[in-house]
Amino acid sequence: MHIAILYNRDHELLEDDPGREAREDVTRVASALSEALSRGDTHAEPLPVEGSRLDFVDVLARMRPDLVINLCESVAADSRGEMVIPCLLDMLGLPYTGSPALSLGLALHKDKAKELLRARGVSTPGFARVERLEDLEAVDLPFPLIVKPAREDASVGITADSVVHDRAALRRTVEAVLRTFHQPALIEQYIAGREIYVPLLGNQPRRALPLTEIHFGKLFEDRPNIVTYAAKWEADSADYQNTPSGLCLLEDPALEARLVQTALDAFAALECQDYGRVDMRVSPQGVPYVIDINPNCDLHPEAGFAKAARAAGIDYPSLATRLVEIALERAHGHSTPRSKGSGAARLPDSANRNVLAGRGNGRDRARRSRASAE
Ligand SMILES: Nc1ncnc2c1ncn2[C@@H]1O[C@H](COP(=O)(O)OP(=O)(O)O)[C@@H](O)[C@H]1O
Ligand SMILES: [Mg+2]
Repeated sequence: MHIAILYNRDHELLEDDPGREAREDVTRVASALSEALSRGDTHAEPLPVEGSRLDFVDVLARMRPDLVINLCESVAADSRGEMVIPCLLDMLGLPYTGSPALSLGLALHKDKAKELLRARGVSTPGFARVERLEDLEAVDLPFPLIVKPAREDASVGITADSVVHDRAALRRTVEAVLRTFHQPALIEQYIAGREIYVPLLGNQPRRALPLTEIHFGKLFEDRPNIVTYAAKWEADSADYQNTPSGLCLLEDPALEARLVQTALDAFAALECQDYGRVDMRVSPQGVPYVIDINPNCDLHPEAGFAKAARAAGIDYPSLATRLVEIALERAHGHSTPRSKGSGAARLPDSANRNVLAGRGNGRDRARRSRASAE
């Protein structure tokens, strides 16, 4: 089997890119997966998307791999390019791992994702989106609040100053987000309480891997308990050292069930596929609030998802293999690649069937929609 591992190589593009470490990390994930999967007659080959260049499309069109592992989190150092990649893979008719463009786009348009969650009755903190400072006047949410860039992830743009307690600080922080990130700011009610992540794997069935909790150390005693950019990426920083994560031990099985169900509902609301992680804060009253949905979450062997898999007895090579099987099952109805040389167009069979390939064929379109399990 021939697998292409597509990843973004764009961390050298912008010297002052606020998400540099996050963008560099993906190269290491591509190598780790290549090593884990290249066994026997399976060859898994990393293929970079360099800047905004599209030559990888021609390479893939010629290569016609059995599967693309899509690790791209940005294009040309812009997270908003993430959703372009599944569209191009759909156009090429290649099956790929992870979520389709719509889900990736929604997850990165946090206000839209939250509107969907609300419409489906999934609990998420109250929020407002602000595009211009003038919009702030209409914002009427109770303090404390947290301000984040509306279109980023991986804690990009999150600092200790992101949590605000009065209107002057709110204005300052929103202004900084608008100026630095050239995108709307999301203002959200700050939920004090535990931070717990639910990793999800599979489609039909979809299972939760062991829950992970972020612990906030001494440094955070008189600071808002949030995972800042430094806490996530800068290993030498005090923030990082004071935010160890570990398996989440919940005394209350009903709370665990609520967390898992809320995560499943959130994942389904965005029609995410294959794997991902839903980040939650649990209020002191025991209500889980969805703060972030991460389809195609970080697959680094030492990142939370792989650690949770390990805790469930799935080592990294087995996780890599499972991800391949899950994507192929969804695409073809079984976990082996299609035989080569049949001459037939190698379009994925179901969930990844693309709108363009199905154009003019109403039946194909109708069948396309629900194959990704909820
Ligand atoms: N509404 C909230 N209440 C409390 N903490 C929050 C809230 N939203 C975000 N945070 C904190 O900020 C961090 C990053 O925010 P998140 O929404 O997960 O963005 P990202 O997509 O960058 O991971 C979270 O891990 C959490 O610690
Ligand atoms: Mg998050």
